[in-house]
Amino acid sequence: MKAPADRGDGQPILLQALDGHVPDRTPIWMMRQAGRYLPEYRELRARAGDFLTLCYTPDFAVEVTLQPIRRFGFDAAILFSDILVVPHALGCDLTFEAGEGPRLSPVPDLAALKALRGDPDADKVDRVLEAVSGIRAKLPRETALLGFCGAPWTVATYMVAGRGTPDQAPARLASLTDPAFFEALIDRLVEASARYLVGQLRAGADAVQIFDSWAGVLDPEAFRRWSIEPIRRIVALVRAEIPDARIIAFPKGATLAGLTELVARTGVNCVGLDWTADRRGVRYALGAKCALQGNLDPLALIAGRTALEEAVGALMQDFRGAAHIFNLGHGIRPETPIAHVEKMIALVRG
Ligand code: CP3
Repeated sequence: MKAPADRGDGQPILLQALDGHVPDRTPIWMMRQAGRYLPEYRELRARAGDFLTLCYTPDFAVEVTLQPIRRFGFDAAILFSDILVVPHALGCDLTFEAGEGPRLSPVPDLAALKALRGDPDADKVDRVLEAVSGIRAKLPRETALLGFCGAPWTVATYMVAGRGTPDQAPARLASLTDPAFFEALIDRLVEASARYLVGQLRAGADAVQIFDSWAGVLDPEAFRRWSIEPIRRIVALVRAEIPDARIIAFPKGATLAGLTELVARTGVNCVGLDWTADRRGVRYALGAKCALQGNLDPLALIAGRTALEEAVGALMQDFRGAAHIFNLGHGIRPETPIAHVEKMIALVRG
């Protein structure tokens, strides 16, 4: 932790926290902050026709990204896109059916992997990077811009099955029955993801987040091999190009031991915590090593009233004096009342 005199004053407070300082007030943003709980999002989504058109039309992606910033003044904007853009750019067919989630052409074996492109489709990637620079141009200076990608493990789970499944058994099984294939799939994703993040940082992102939403289904040894190690390689590849790149990892469902090892091995600036994390244990183990992001239960935000007040109060108490970025423990759900988001922000900002 840095001395109070060297707080990075003048930087957006979210970047101060990522650099290990304790800002004057706690920065706040929400995973999935641009999404279906907002009427202005639903309106633009209906006009665009489908979700991927929103993602690949830079003017739409810029506008959707800015919607929650205008409404709530969050301390960070997150690029509006999806983690499945990377497999899409590698040649997987991708669709989003209403209420059903993503559908991809499955990549269950080495033959299917070999049929994909070697390099990601530049047209798809460039549309996203154009959105990044368009967002940066319109964003207030004090608002940080976050880029992101999915972690190789999480993206691989969707690629192998062609869809989300309750415990991502198809990918876990493939990693056991055909480790050579699975390793090759992860390698391809490590390289494509690192290049993609470098592109986002060069286009104007101030920091990037790596979403490992399915880390929690892995046993400790598999977590080392399929979550920590690919993230470590991405961080190293990105920092070989951009040495001071700020990187957040969100390994949802990781244990305290897993989080501790991930931070030590990857050198990320911050870990995102889901709502089940042992906050005091995490602070004790990691508070001096990196920034901590999270971890309000998205259901407390739906519940509102005293449940919300108590949950926010306990969270702020546990992280007082730490380099903490307030966030949810996972994405905001579509049924969340906007008034509860406003109340949460007021509680955090005092
Ligand atoms: O956070 C943000 O506001 C930025 C945009 C963003 C989206 N997806 C938009 C989105 C980000 C960072 C993501 C990441 C993402 N996408 C993850 C990792 C984070 C997590 O939630 O665990 C995953 C696993 C995906 C894959 C994905 N995309 C699924 C499983 C779904 C369907 C589930 C659902 O909520 O409908 C999506 C669709 C999706 N991605 C939507 C949005 C706003 C909803 C699409 C719509 O408008 O219908």
